[in-house]
Amino acid sequence: MEVVICKDAQEVGKVAADKVISSLDGVVTPVVGFATGSSPLSLYQELSRRVEAGDCDFSHALGFALDEYVGIERNHPESYASVINRTVVEPLRMDPSRVRVPDGLAEDLQGAADEYDEAIELAGGVDVQILGIGSNGHIGFNEPFSSFSSRTRIKTLTPETREDNARFFPSIDDVPRHCVTQGLGTIMDSHVALMVASGEQKADAIAAMIEGPVSASVPASILQFHPRAFIVIDEAAASKLK
Ligand code: F6R
Repeated sequence: MEVVICKDAQEVGKVAADKVISSLDGVVTPVVGFATGSSPLSLYQELSRRVEAGDCDFSHALGFALDEYVGIERNHPESYASVINRTVVEPLRMDPSRVRVPDGLAEDLQGAADEYDEAIELAGGVDVQILGIGSNGHIGFNEPFSSFSSRTRIKTLTPETREDNARFFPSIDDVPRHCVTQGLGTIMDSHVALMVASGEQKADAIAAMIEGPVSASVPASILQFHPRAFIVIDEAAASKLK
């Protein structure tokens, strides 16, 4: 695990953008894994600036989002399909038909999840997987005690995650209870895993992930076994490291 500590979220975005671009250097059809949430926004903004400046180009890249809520319409403003469209596809000028988000509305949710894993495999695997971390140590929506070998599947969101995400909905009752998420095994298959985090509210989870034992109670700690895991965090998120 390589850990880079930056001054603030803006610097996190810049350092992480350098890593995305260097990881994709020489890759003919880049495959990028996208997280939603607040953490990667400074990274996506920085990548967008570089696209506008002509320094990089994602028009031929393929994208796979990490997760989606179950049961909310794709055009709901807080569905991850909408969020990815707003924060990634449009600003990075990606081809929308080349960016996929797990299907949280399929009649056969597990069938659609299996098909999602197959699509990632068919694309040749994810070259760089962008990750955030939940305050409880989740990555994707792999909540504590998720299996380390899990593939894309349905999960129940913990009360803590629903509270964390209530800021995006009118009330806590509107936050979905279930999601479809890439598994920890799926995430571990990525060539490069790039985590971004900022703010003091992430400090405990970051310390447990980096300095604690590898444990299912902190799903992100599995990244200690990832051969190319890069953790880019600000000083506040790093404040509980020894
Ligand atoms: C969402 C995802 C989650 C978030 C995590 C942190 O696609 O993968 O693991 O990264 O919940 O969310 P923020 O960044 O909003 O604090």
